[in-house]
Amino acid sequence: MQTVVISIGGLVLFPEDVDEHFFEKLTKFFEKLSKKYKIYLVVGGGKTARKYIKLGRTLGLNEIKLDEIGIEITRINAEIFASLLGNSNQKIPFTTDEAKKMTNEIIIMGGTTPGHSTDMVGAELAQKTHASKFIVATNVDGVYDKDPNEFSDAKKYDEITIDELIKKYGTSWESAGKNMVIDGPALGIIKQGKIQTYVLNGKNLDELEKAITNQKFNGTKIKN
Ligand code: UTP
Repeated sequence: MQTVVISIGGLVLFPEDVDEHFFEKLTKFFEKLSKKYKIYLVVGGGKTARKYIKLGRTLGLNEIKLDEIGIEITRINAEIFASLLGNSNQKIPFTTDEAKKMTNEIIIMGGTTPGHSTDMVGAELAQKTHASKFIVATNVDGVYDKDPNEFSDAKKYDEITIDELIKKYGTSWESAGKNMVIDGPALGIIKQGKIQTYVLNGKNLDELEKAITNQKFNGTKIKN
């Protein structure tokens, strides 16, 4: 059975107004998929993490504390999603090693340590589990040359090399709650582990399924 690691952006699962119908569709989608693939899901922090990090920054909390707050929220989000899935772990692991040892059909986790986002956790899991694919399911259709939510003329890359991405964004972590399609530390692991990585819109389950099942999909392939 092939292993697929999916990093689901918090804004996909937990936007301002949570869509319970999307959760229903998503749980059915993963339950079906888990009959053919070993699935690891890493859940992001979403609006709540952003709100709390912003609040903490206003109050003068240090960056490590802000990351720790973000991690707690990703773990709560993971716990909520895990409770909806019948065949996943219910205890959220603290590390990727702990996740790797779990035997459920679907393994769900959130963040781990300060200094990166859940994308890096996903990349690390993909490396450790020798996953055939790492999918970053975010709230835009792929990697663009600039932020598509801000610039209407932003162009999406169907493919981009990992070296180009690293040249553009680097491999270091900037700050808690920042909004980039994949964070720098994740890019470093993707390059080092030569991980096959796709970026797509997690709201679009048809495209997610196509990416997992090796069909042409709307998104960006990161060439390694
Ligand atoms: P996210 O993974 O949601 O990061 O974690 P993000 O890129 O800011 O937001 P999305 O993916 O667009 O929703 C939320 C925050 O939690 C901390 C970071 O501060 C991150 O910004 N975090 C998360 C960690 O420090 N370590 C982790 O392993 C995960």
